[in-house]
Order: sequence, then structure tokens, then C-alpha cells
Amino acid sequence: MSATPPVLSLPGTSEDLTDRLVDGLARVEAFLQERFAQEDEFLSEAAGHLAAAGGKRFRPMLTLLVSELGSGINDEVIAAAAGVELTHLASLYHDDVMDEAEVRRGVPSANVKYGNSTAILVGDLLFGTASEVIADLGAEPVKIQAQTFVRLCSGQIRDDRPAPADADPMRYYLDVLADKTGVLVATAARYGAMFGGCSPEVIALMTEYGERLGMAFQLADDLIDIASEAGESGKTPGTDLREGKRTLPVLHALASRDPADARLQELLVSDLSADDDLAEALTLLRAHPAMDKAREETREVAVRACEVLDDLPESDARSALLALATGVVERAG
Ligand code: IPE
Ligand code: IPE
Ligand code: MG
Ligand code: MG
Ligand code: MG
Repeated sequence: MSATPPVLSLPGTSEDLTDRLVDGLARVEAFLQERFAQEDEFLSEAAGHLAAAGGKRFRPMLTLLVSELGSGINDEVIAAAAGVELTHLASLYHDDVMDEAEVRRGVPSANVKYGNSTAILVGDLLFGTASEVIADLGAEPVKIQAQTFVRLCSGQIRDDRPAPADADPMRYYLDVLADKTGVLVATAARYGAMFGGCSPEVIALMTEYGERLGMAFQLADDLIDIASEAGESGKTPGTDLREGKRTLPVLHALASRDPADARLQELLVSDLSADDDLAEALTLLRAHPAMDKAREETREVAVRACEVLDDLPESDARSALLALATGVVERAG
């Protein structure tokens, strides 16, 4: 993986704090490597496939950073951060099967490399490993982990299906987002506060901050799917459109009454499995004001995450959490 994950370039973060985070992430990495090792060589390779390819390590970084609001990084914080990344990894193996994705983190996705059945089972293996890691931290963390995975799966299942006819499409989309992505980011922050020895009030604040940050993170991910160039995000641009996902800019474009939008709207409700149609839809959507509107709304969600930090005293870690929210929505991959 790249030496310094991009989210670590948090403007204004002190050198001391950056050093502690870099050191903490190296410990998380070593912890993960140990857990991928299996007696069977194929299993080790398949379990470590996506981790070896890279990734931002955004969630474990959040756990480490939030712990700095309390007494800072310790062995439990490292284990919790690794448990969160393992849960995330498990969800990526499954997500790429669902989304028929071909690349992830710049390499062939597990479903392409090993086939769907193996990709699903390796995802399960990683999820089991995550549970084992979290179980060492006590009963309450395991319960949180279980509730997190239930919400994540419920979000992913609903994301994979059309919105019910009587649902408000925007409300439905935001609820799915909170479940499939918000909850794990909330848990990453929550564990950081719990194992960093923070007060119950700070733990609750950080859970809320994480949930809002996770929403902003997924809204930004949905924009990246449309706006990024091939190769920029390590994923294939347009995957959501091809799958018929009604993400925020798509919902805005569909709601337009401007007759000039007729062609784009026609494409957005059609089958976009043909490359030419997908390319045309992407070009039209990229140039559409719906993108700016969605980007603005994404920034507002990040601002709402930052508002949660108003109740915390000044500190290096608090400043870094503010910078993180901006970094999450302005990122390109
Ligand atoms: C991808 O997450 C899945 C989402 C919830 C959007 P990341 O963007 O954190 O993926 P990696 O870990 O950096 O590859
Ligand atoms: C997936 O959302 C969220 C997860 C819970 C894994 P996406 O399907 O948009 O994630 P990417 O873009 O493939 O990483
Ligand atoms: Mg996907
Ligand atoms: Mg998906
Ligand atoms: Mg995506």
C-alpha cells in the first residue's frame, strides 16, 4: 500500500499528532497482516488480497484520531481499529459481488479474481475474523459490532433493490446511506472514544460525529463515481449508473423540469449496460447543475458533522477532526 494514506494529509495537524497516527496505522497494519495469515496458502492470499492492494484506511485512522480526544492510542484502540477495517474489508468483498465491480483499489476485485462464491466466503471469513478481534475487547464492543453489521447489511440489501413505490426517493436514499456506510464510520469513531477512555458524553458525541461524517463520506463517494476519471479512484467510474442507482445527483437530474434535460432523463431511467449509453449519460450528468447541487449538499452534511465538535474543548485532535470532514468531501478517490 502507499506509504502515507491520503486522508492523513490533514492540513493544520501538528507534527506530534501526525507522528502518533502514522505509528498507530503501522501497528494496525501489522495486526491485520497477522490476522490474514492462514495455514492454507490460498486462504491467506485471498484474505489479504484487497488489503495488500491499498485503500485509504479511513476508518481505522478515525478510530486512532478520536482516541486522541482522550488518553490516546493503546493496544485496545489498535485492535478496535483493525476490527473496523476487517469489517469494512468484508463488506467490500460482498459489495463487489453485488455491484458486479471489476476493479477495486486499482486491482481486479475478488469476484473477478476468484469468482463470486469464493469472494462471498472470503468476505464471511473476514467478518468472522473481525468478530474474533472485537470479542477480545469485551461483550459491549461485540454487541456494537453485531448491531453495526446488521445495519450495514440492511443498508446494502435495500441499496440493491428498487425503492418501494410509496417511499420518498430522497428519504429512502439517505436512510440507506446512513445504514450501509454511516453506521460503520460511527462505530469507528465510537470505539476510538470508548477505548481512548473518553467520558460517556464524548463517546455519544463521537458516535454522532461519525454517523454524519459517514453520510458525507458516502455522498462524496457517489459523486466520485460520476465525476472521477478512469484510474483515479481505483474503481470503475459509472458503476452506480450502470447498476441503475438513484444517487443524489441522479435524483436531482430526474426532478428537473427543464426540457433540455429530456435526453439525460431518458438515459437515467433506461438500461445503461451498453458502453455508449453509459458514456453519454456520464458526460451529460457531469456537466449538469445537479452535480453542483449535490456537491453543495454533501458539504452541508460535512458542516453538520463539524457542528457536533462545537461541544468539545480546543485540541489538536479536535482540529484534525474538523479538517477530516473537509478532506472527506473534497477528495477525488
Ligand atoms: C468504499 O470505502 C466503500 C464505501 C463505503 C464508499 P472506501 O472509500 O473507504 O474504500 P477504501 O478502503 O479506501 O478502498
Ligand atoms: C458500498 O457503497 C458501501 C458498503 C457498505 C461497502 P458503494 O457500492 O458505492 O461502494 P464502492 O463505490 O463500490 O466502494
Ligand atoms: Mg460498490
Ligand atoms: Mg454498492
Ligand atoms: Mg461507490
